[in-house]
Amino acid sequence: MEKLKFLLVLFLSTCQAVLSITDGLLPNGDFEHGPKPSQLKGSEVVGKDAIPNWTVTGFVEYIKSGQKQGDMLLIVPEGAFAVRLGNEASIKQKVNFTKGSFYSITFSAARTCAQEEKLNVSVLPTIEDADWGVIPIQTMYGSNGWESFACGFRADFPQGEIVIHNPGVAEDPACGPLIDSVALRVLNPPKRTRANLLKNGNFEEGPYVFPKASWGVLIPPHIEDSHSPLPGWIVESLKAVKYIDSNHFSVPEGQRAIELVAGKESALAQVVITTIGKTYDLTFAVGDANNACEGSMIVEAFAGRDSVQVSYQSKGKGGFIRGKLRFKAVSLRTRVRFLSTFYTMKNDNSGSLCGPVLDDVKLLSVRYPAPRASFIHAHDH
Ligand SMILES: *[C@@H]1O[C@H](CO)[C@@H](O)[C@H](O)[C@H]1NC(C)=O
Ligand SMILES: *[C@@H]1O[C@H](CO)[C@@H](O)[C@H](O)[C@H]1NC(C)=O
Ligand SMILES: *[C@@H]1O[C@H](CO)[C@@H](O)[C@H](O)[C@H]1NC(C)=O
Repeated sequence: MEKLKFLLVLFLSTCQAVLSITDGLLPNGDFEHGPKPSQLKGSEVVGKDAIPNWTVTGFVEYIKSGQKQGDMLLIVPEGAFAVRLGNEASIKQKVNFTKGSFYSITFSAARTCAQEEKLNVSVLPTIEDADWGVIPIQTMYGSNGWESFACGFRADFPQGEIVIHNPGVAEDPACGPLIDSVALRVLNPPKRTRANLLKNGNFEEGPYVFPKASWGVLIPPHIEDSHSPLPGWIVESLKAVKYIDSNHFSVPEGQRAIELVAGKESALAQVVITTIGKTYDLTFAVGDANNACEGSMIVEAFAGRDSVQVSYQSKGKGGFIRGKLRFKAVSLRTRVRFLSTFYTMKNDNSGSLCGPVLDDVKLLSVRYPAPRASFIHAHDH
C-alpha cells in the first residue's frame, strides 16, 4: 500500500514537470530580447524579423520601461521591454500545438492615449479559417494602467500562429496599445463529478496567471462555451469578470476564484443537465479579495425559476460567507447564473472597479427535501 502511494506521488510530480514546459511565456513572450540597434529607427522596429521569435507587420515600436511619452512615464510589468502596436500593426508567432487540445492565451496590455483602443487576438489556421476575438481595452480595472486578458481556443491543427493585431485607426500614430507578457496554457477539460454537478465549480482550471501580475486576469464576455478560457463557464452580458489567484488576493477556496468586477453588466453562467421536478442545492462562497474593495455587496444567484441575494459586508481585507439557493428544476437544462448587484470602487483613489469574489460553487441534487428529512430524523429517535 505504501509503495503504491509513493508511485502515485512520483507520477503526479512527473506530470507537473511536463506541464510546466508548455504552460508559461511564449519564447521571448516578454519581449526582453529586442532588435539590434541597426533594426531600430528611434523606437520604431525596422524589418519583420527584427524581434527574436516574433514577426511584426506595420508600425511597431520597441519600448523600454521608464521611457517618456509626453508627461507619461511608460512602465512595463514583465522585465524592462514591451512593444507598441500602431494602427493596423500586428505581432505574431508560430506555435506547435497538440491537435484537439484546448488552450488559453494570456497577455498584458496597456493603453497609452485617452481614446478607446482594441486588440484583435487570433489563432490561425483553424477549421473555421480563423478563430479570433476582438478584445476592447477601453474599460480599465487595474491600478497601474496594465491589464491582463485571457482568451481560449481549440487547436485544430498541430501548428498555428498566434496573432495580436491593433485594428485601430487613431490619428496619432504614437497612440496604440502596449503589449507585454504573452503566455499559453493547456486547459484540461473539467468533468462533472459525484461531488458536484457543475464543471470547474471552484475555478481552479483557467488561464495562465503571471507570477508578477498582481492585478488578476480579465476574462472577456461573449465567448462561446467551447472557447472559454474558464472551462465550463460562460461570461454573459457586456463586461468581463476577473480571474484572481491566491498569490495576490484572498481566495475563499483553493488557489483561484472570480471577482465580479462589473456589477450587473457581467454575469457568470453554466448550463447543467437537470431532472424536472427534482430539488437541487446550489451552494457557493461570497467574499472579498483583500484588495481595498470595501462596502456592502450583494451576489445574486439564479437557477430555474428561483433566485437568492446574498449580502456581504466587505472591509476590503479578505473573508467570505456561504450562500445557498434551493430550487426545483423546471427543465432538462438549467442555467445557473451569478452577478453582482452593485458597482464598487476600490478605496485607494485609483478609480478601479472591483467587486465581490465568487468561489466554491457546488450543485447537488437533494435526495430528501426538508419535510421528508425531518421525518427520517424523528424516526431515528
Ligand atoms: C527564439 O529566438 C532565439 C534567438 O533568435 C533562438 O535561438 C530560439 O531558437 C528561438 N526559439 C524558438 C522556440 O523558436
Ligand atoms: C514545431 O515542430 C516542428 C516540427 O516538429 C519543429 O521543426 C519546430 O522547431 C517546432 N517549433 C517550435 C516553435 O517548437
Ligand atoms: C481579426 O483578425 C482575423 C484574423 O486575422 C480577421 O479574419 C478578422 O477580420 C479580424 N477582425 C477584426 C474586427 O479586425
